[in-house]
Amino acid sequence: MEYFKLSNGVEIPALGFGTWQVKGEDCYKAVTEALRVGYRHIDTAWIYRNEKEVGRAIKDSGIAREDLFITTKCWNDHRGYENTLNAFKESCDNLQVNYLDLYLLHWPKKLDKESWKAIEELYLDGKIRAIGVSNYHQHHLEDLFTSAKIKPMVDQVEYHPKLTQSSLMNFLKKENIQMESWSPLMRGAVMDIPLLQELSNKYQRSISQIVLRWNIQNGVVVIPKSVTPSRIKENFEIFDFVIEHSDMLKIDSLNENIRTGADPDNFDF
Ligand SMILES: NC(=O)c1ccc[n+]([C@@H]2O[C@H](COP(=O)([O-])OP(=O)(O)OC[C@H]3O[C@@H](n4cnc5c(N)ncnc54)[C@H](OP(=O)(O)O)[C@@H]3O)[C@@H](O)[C@H]2O)c1
Repeated sequence: MEYFKLSNGVEIPALGFGTWQVKGEDCYKAVTEALRVGYRHIDTAWIYRNEKEVGRAIKDSGIAREDLFITTKCWNDHRGYENTLNAFKESCDNLQVNYLDLYLLHWPKKLDKESWKAIEELYLDGKIRAIGVSNYHQHHLEDLFTSAKIKPMVDQVEYHPKLTQSSLMNFLKKENIQMESWSPLMRGAVMDIPLLQELSNKYQRSISQIVLRWNIQNGVVVIPKSVTPSRIKENFEIFDFVIEHSDMLKIDSLNENIRTGADPDNFDF
């Protein structure tokens, strides 16, 4: 496993396991399998309605809490100081943990500054090891900076070969905020990109492995989701090869600013 160091010194595993749209026993089984294969970083969110199953899988795995990196997210309806404190407690209860490794504001919304104040306090109280946001463009971050005492350490955003977000990436690097990629496989659509098929043949690795490795070599934390045991394993086996620089640039140049999910500027749940 490779790790990236966050601005406060906390180490985040470069590869995590995504759990969006995986519920009930499917979620329990997928997280159990991921932990068995070796993943130690799990990404969930209150709105995924699977925190309880993630928590149960973690507990039943017997893996020591300090060996795990658990992320969850504060949903849009839970904004404001008190609501955020309550949401944090509910997520911890669901997950059966007494601290989180990473807590994110899920989307930019009104009252984020009040929520951020609550998150800063939880961080200073030692209840969260690292704090961050998700789906924040540069202007959302700049607005948060006007009142934040502590800058976010992570921004989890959509990122894949068709959406490389180079301007945001440069800004995050300048501010020492770690980029984390959601829907890294474009929910499966990367499999249809001809250049990736060529590179898959060249490196004798699956297209998924090429894309996940490309994320990590670009300094981006990546959290692919799968409920299929063979794919869970395949996605974990990306630490024993390196993509050449010239091929990294070829993948970068696939960008077409295509989103599989919502643009945070036109999104209001
Ligand atoms: N912060 C946010 O707003 C936000 C938004 C979206 C997602 N996320 C996070 O990011 C995670 C990943 O994103 P995602 O779930 O949208 O999509 P993704 O990881 O890009 O793609 C998942 C899809 O790819 C398939 N797949 C996985 N590994 C594969 C492989 N090796 N070969 C072929 N197909 C493969 C999966 O199929 P099977 O499952 O059938 O195997 C599933 O259909 C989420 O689960 C969630 O934790 C966050």
